[in-house]
Amino acid sequence: MAERGRFITLEGGEGVGKSTNLARVVGWLEARGLEVVQTREPGGTPRAEAIRRLLLDPDEPEPLDDDAELLLVFAARAQHLARVIRPALARGAWVVCDRFTDATFAYQGGGRGIDGARIAELEAFVQQGLAPDLTLLLDMPMTAAQRRLDRRGERRDRFEQERAEFFEAVRRAYLARAADAPQRFAVIDAAQSLSAVGEQIEAVLEARMATWQS
Ligand code: TMP
Repeated sequence: MAERGRFITLEGGEGVGKSTNLARVVGWLEARGLEVVQTREPGGTPRAEAIRRLLLDPDEPEPLDDDAELLLVFAARAQHLARVIRPALARGAWVVCDRFTDATFAYQGGGRGIDGARIAELEAFVQQGLAPDLTLLLDMPMTAAQRRLDRRGERRDRFEQERAEFFEAVRRAYLARAADAPQRFAVIDAAQSLSAVGEQIEAVLEARMATWQS
């Protein structure tokens, strides 16, 4: 087994099946006797979860300024890194996180149109070089993902209420990030059956584990 914990993130648009597949990743690692910390962004600590509620609340009539949104995302991340992610990695645990900074480049960058260079400045400030070891990007066409959201039938949060072009831009930004960092990213075709997606993810984990151990 690898001697130190790794940082794995799951990314993708709305309705791509992140929750189910996150559980699969965690189960796969735990079955190998590894200590796993499962967490999510924005959130992962009580204060960061409070920031999440500010970000997602669909009922607040005051519009949220794009820069304020960006800073809130990174404020939550700073708290999460300090309280959960860094301590877990420091004691050798594995961290599996539902979304991380690639989501900021996709949503605040691609979706809102904030310059990626500004996001990268905050990334450097908050993360001080810390980055995921592996990012699983669950990718599927927007229309299929929207159908899944519709079927879910829950009230939509502030991001889920965005228009189709926003989600197209999010998807393009994610794929561009994956193309820029192919060693870190594994792009998974999330339009396949759940079992096929799970098998693809497990194959990626097997392969990565072998390189981490060598
Ligand atoms: P979730 O739906 O995966 O729980 O994520 C909550 C929402 O937060 C989702 O619509 C994406 C959004 N988000 C950002 O806009 N920027 C970020 O950096 C993160 C982590 C999430």
